[in-house]
Amino acid sequence: MNLFTLVLLLLALSGCSSEVVPDFTQKCPEFFADPKGDRSSPTVFPGNDYKQICQKREDTYEYATLYDTANRIPVYSAYKFEGLQSCIRIDKWFIEPQLEDLGPQMISESNMIQKQAVNQDYEKKSRPLYDKGHLAPVYHARSKSCADATFTLTNAAPQDRSFNRGQWRKTEEGVAEDVKQKCKGNCVYIVTGVVPDYNKPLLNNKVRIPSHFWTAYCCLDNNLGVTDSRGFIGSNINVEVDNITVSELEGKLTTLYGKGTFQVFGGYCH
Ligand SMILES: *[C@@H]1O[C@H](CO)[C@@H](O)[C@H](O)[C@H]1NC(C)=O
Repeated sequence: MNLFTLVLLLLALSGCSSEVVPDFTQKCPEFFADPKGDRSSPTVFPGNDYKQICQKREDTYEYATLYDTANRIPVYSAYKFEGLQSCIRIDKWFIEPQLEDLGPQMISESNMIQKQAVNQDYEKKSRPLYDKGHLAPVYHARSKSCADATFTLTNAAPQDRSFNRGQWRKTEEGVAEDVKQKCKGNCVYIVTGVVPDYNKPLLNNKVRIPSHFWTAYCCLDNNLGVTDSRGFIGSNINVEVDNITVSELEGKLTTLYGKGTFQVFGGYCH
């Protein structure tokens, strides 16, 4: 396969639309809460391994992702929640070609995609079984195009199948219900992330398995005042998810990531 064929292949896999950008709070700011007018993303870890992505499928940005190319899983995806739409799942997964250093030295498909997970990595029949667990979930998508845009490997991490389809699903449903009740007429910002587990073997010798999945929401009124917020975190097994304040979540994430103070909404939504 020559480079030209590979580029065509990559474009086909990618739908050629998302963008790796130097600063996603500049390029697609709309997915980050701006309490009191201060637009703040969750903490961005320093270093070249972490890539900021403005995710889209067609013309509009749909959500934003911080991606860890060393572990080949996202750190988090940030999006706005605008009510449940019940979009149809395409279940066809794309990759992000802009993460790869496409050079003439790359001559086969298998060694070409280096900086992210691919479908085959998840096809291992090892136990426990891992799903491609969505961070920005199809269930919360605000449009068909948004739902389609969640099917990128850069928005997924290995999630224990029974957890994904059990307690975590219940959490996604519970968050949708909570914000419907408590954030009527307000803007709802959600961030969902994972913590890498360095004690587990890699999936397919390549993809880091998370120790935890977490999510948090923050609701802002028309004056950009915080009206409600909540955080959730669960181990990557099918046991109950903790329902805590955003401050408590930030405390746990600061310890778990071990990379200094971790903030989800710039410290405003407690
Ligand atoms: C989380 O806890 C809050 C406060 O107790 C409660 O109102 C909310 O319904 C809970 N949410 C979920 C999804 O369990």
